[in-house]
Amino acid sequence: MQVIFDDIAPEYDRSGVTYFGPVGERLVALVGIVAGQTVLDVGTGRGAVLFPAARAVGKSGRVTGIDLSPAMVEAVQEEARGQGMRQIDAVVGEGQSPQFPPGAFDAITGGMSVHMLADIPAALRTYHRLLRRGGRLGLSAPATVDHPEPEVFGLRSIARFCAAHDSGSGIYPYAEAFGGPQQVRSDLLAAGFANVEVGEESAFITTASSDAFLRWTWTHGMRKLWERVSASERERVSRAITAEVNARSEHADHVVLRTPVMYITASRPEASDTGHTPT
Ligand SMILES: C[S@@+](CC[C@H](N)C(=O)[O-])C[C@H]1O[C@@H](n2cnc3c(N)ncnc32)[C@H](O)[C@@H]1O
Repeated sequence: MQVIFDDIAPEYDRSGVTYFGPVGERLVALVGIVAGQTVLDVGTGRGAVLFPAARAVGKSGRVTGIDLSPAMVEAVQEEARGQGMRQIDAVVGEGQSPQFPPGAFDAITGGMSVHMLADIPAALRTYHRLLRRGGRLGLSAPATVDHPEPEVFGLRSIARFCAAHDSGSGIYPYAEAFGGPQQVRSDLLAAGFANVEVGEESAFITTASSDAFLRWTWTHGMRKLWERVSASERERVSRAITAEVNARSEHADHVVLRTPVMYITASRPEASDTGHTPT
């Protein structure tokens, strides 16, 4: 996993396509991060959640982003320096079991990342322990579209490509992220969380042209699939994606694709009166 994200780090979320940024901003708003807070952002990538969280906590707060990929972490550190955002730390770290003292954070976020972890219930128990009482958790993931046909990033052509060539990396949502809304709700309650909200909202992938959209598909996890197929298959799939982008874009003069995102929020209760102790 680290190797893929190291390779794509320079262009990830920096290729002229808007998608991860607004999803990150929405997550920060849903969690309700405010000035002065301490935040941990898991699987921080190029900081789609981290930077809006840093703006929300301001100079009196502290935001720590962790990511398995050293290249992502270096890029975030450089950008934070460039923007003079001293409240940001970015470190290489494992999102499955972040190493921080209990109760260290007012909020923990994971944008488009935590659904990829191998043991989600264990990660949620760890996040519960790392939050102070009353602290907030916020996660996002692509929501599954399977009616009338599967879609990935708003497109059936990409879903078909993923179905043919993905080897179960978990990056693409054939199976529901987090095992679906019921499963994540029950995992969160079992971990000791309260005020669990699991919802779905439309996000928009916007860019100047279908060519720009196609280039974007090489800048995130989908690159791994492109690298697996022959030049002729790339040609064929690219033509199918271009035709579908042009047919389904919600604007005539630029690309706007609608795609659903799952947002999950929960709180660590103020007092340990939930009736059970998470392991
Ligand atoms: C799809 S990107 C999301 C990045 C960012 N949060 C966003 O919303 O754009 C997933 C990120 O999670 C990181 N990641 C994947 N597995 C991880 C793990 N086990 N621990 C820490 N980071 C991980 C990847 O390196 C990548 O940067």
